[in-house]
Parts: sequence; C-alpha cells; structure tokens
Amino acid sequence: MNSPLRVAVTGAAGNIGYALLFRLAAGDCYGMEQPIILHMVEIPPAMKALEGVAMELSDAAFPLLHGIEMADNPNDGFKGVNQAFLVGAMPRGAGMERADLIQANGPIFVAQGKALESAAAADVHAVVVGNPCNTNALICSSNARGLPAGRITAMTRLDQNRAVSQLANKAGVLASDIGRMAVYGNHSPTMFPDFLHATIKGQPVADTLDQAWLEGDFMTTVAKRGSAIIKARGASSAASAASAAIDHMKSVWHGTADGEWVSMAVPSRGEYSVPAGLIYSYPVTISNRAYQIVEGIEHGQYAQKKIAASADELVRERDLVADLLA
Ligand code: NAD
Ligand code: LMR
Repeated sequence: MNSPLRVAVTGAAGNIGYALLFRLAAGDCYGMEQPIILHMVEIPPAMKALEGVAMELSDAAFPLLHGIEMADNPNDGFKGVNQAFLVGAMPRGAGMERADLIQANGPIFVAQGKALESAAAADVHAVVVGNPCNTNALICSSNARGLPAGRITAMTRLDQNRAVSQLANKAGVLASDIGRMAVYGNHSPTMFPDFLHATIKGQPVADTLDQAWLEGDFMTTVAKRGSAIIKARGASSAASAASAAIDHMKSVWHGTADGEWVSMAVPSRGEYSVPAGLIYSYPVTISNRAYQIVEGIEHGQYAQKKIAASADELVRERDLVADLLA
C-alpha cells in the first residue's frame, strides 16, 4: 500500500460532490493500492450538510479512505493536498449560458488560486469543474503563479465523453470502439468536438457516419447537452460530471495509453493559433503526470474557423474578468 494521497474536493456538500466523493473513496481514480485522505471544502452555511456527507462516507467503511478533513475555507482545506477537484461554484439554471455565471463564480477562484499556491503540496494538480470552467481556471492559475504552469487545468472530459457516446450510439458500436475524440476550446456551445480526426474501430468516423449528421445533429447535441440535461432533470449534470472529473484526474495520475488522446483545457502557448495564455481545450497525451498538447494535427477551414471562434469567446470572457487576474 502507498502512503495516503490528500485529495481536496470543493463544493463537497453539493450535487457533483456527492457523486464524486464516494467514487474517489472507492478507488475509482487512483486505484486499489492508493489510499486517500479527503479534504472536503465548503462555505460556512453548508458545513452542517457536509457533516452528513462525512457521516455517510464513514458509514461506507471504504478500506482506502484513511481520513476525512472538513474546512469552510480553502486555506485550511488545501493544506498539504496533492490533488484538488475545484467543483464548488453556482450552477446555471434554465435559460442561462455558463458564461452568465462569471460574475458570481469568478471571485471564488481568486481565493482558491492563492490558497493552492500557499497551502497545497508542491506536487499539487487541480482540475476546475465549476463553471465557466475555462475562465475560472484562468483566474485560479493567474492567482497561483508560484505553481508550475499547467498544474491547474479545466474539465472538458465530459464533452469528450458525450461526443464518444453520441458516435458510438449512432454507429451501433461500443464507447470503447471510439478513438481520438478530441474537444477543442471552451466548455460552452462554441466548443469543437473534432469528429474529423476521431475513429471508429481505428477507421475515420466519416467512413461510417454521414457528414451531414456529424456537422449537424452531432455537433449541436454535444454542444448543448448541458442545457438539455438541465431542462430534463431540473438540475445540471452531476453524476456524469463527477465521472468525467474522475476520468480527467485518472488520466493525469496514470497517464494516457499509447496512441490515446484525451481532452483537457490547459494553458495555450499559441498552439493551433489560439492566443497564448487562454485555458483552451486540446487533445493531450500524458506521461509522468505531465501533459503534452498533441501538435501537428492538420485542420481544414471548417475546423480552423471553429477553433478560432471558441478562442474568440474565451478572449471575451478573459476581458470580463480582467480585474480578477493577477
Ligand atoms: P451545487 O449547487 O449542487 O453544489 C455547489 C456546492 O458548492 C454547494 O454545496 C456550495 O455550497 C458550494 N460552494 C459554493 N461556493 C463555494 C466556495 N467558495 N468554496 C467551496 N464550496 C463552495 O452545484 P453542482 O451541481 O455540484 O455544480 C457545481 C459546479 O460545477 C457548477 O458551477 C456547475 O455549473 C459546474 N459543472 C461543470 C461541469 C463541467 O463539465 N465543467 C459539469 C457539470 C457542472
Ligand atoms: C454541463 O455541461 O452539464 C455542465 O457544464 C452544466 C451546465 O451548466 O451545462
């Protein structure tokens, strides 16, 4: 058995937190040889509910759960943490876009960036789930400049998983038959799920599926899936979001398989003409807990336009939060 890993989850009394904590404690992210100590971080009004979540975690008697700590602020909550799931933030309601949450949620990530820098372990990796997650990750990393670049990423794995599932359902194959389904850009309707380089059983998707469907229903369904879930459930996605957060950190922790790409929003250094500094989703490969953006993929005009449009949107979001950037 390894020594325990300290794993922070903010918004631990919320909906995603409730789905995420139990999977982390069960070993779904770090494996069955890796015990964890959970740092559950909330705001003061949610501490009572958080105590209930802690009771339930304890009642599940998870062998890998070697401790539970609770905090009502990030400075205490992030002490010594190696991994951080930054979930705590307001979700959108029906009729809103995720960007409408910027003013309410942006300031949360100023304090959390500072706390990660000052209190977390030197090897900390964080994933931002709270929306709008790309720009919140930008705020967070801008306030944690003492951390190595790229330690704070944002989650677009849910979009990748949604795209994989749509392709698999349409082609009548398993999700595991879909490869290289990369999502570019912002976790918003401007995202670009690049079906042009995705594969079904190793062959281009376009060999099996109709181009009009791919450019039409497929793109729209993936881009607007979050709204469709809010409309149907009356609340935003929770279990699938928690599952994608686990997929994201599992890739960081264990690395990607040979030939595998995963989608992750990371600081751009200008790849694919995206302005440097934006937190932009790219296909990446990971080894030794460090990602590499997959470069050299050839994109035609259709894809280039989409990649640029999502970058333009992120520039506009960055302008809106200029006062929160250090
Ligand atoms: P929720 O309202 O059920 O829970 C949010 C929790 O965060 C609450 O318990 C709240 O008390 C807590 N919180 C608020 N401010 C906090 C702070 N400063 N520190 C710590 N905790 C804080 O919401 P949810 O359904 O769990 O969703 C959380 C966020 O995740 C939302 O912003 C939602 O839009 C986003 N989300 C992102 C994705 C993605 O793919 N990136 C997917 C689903 C949801
Ligand atoms: C999602 O994609 O399900 C989340 O980002 C929640 C939302 O607001 O759409």
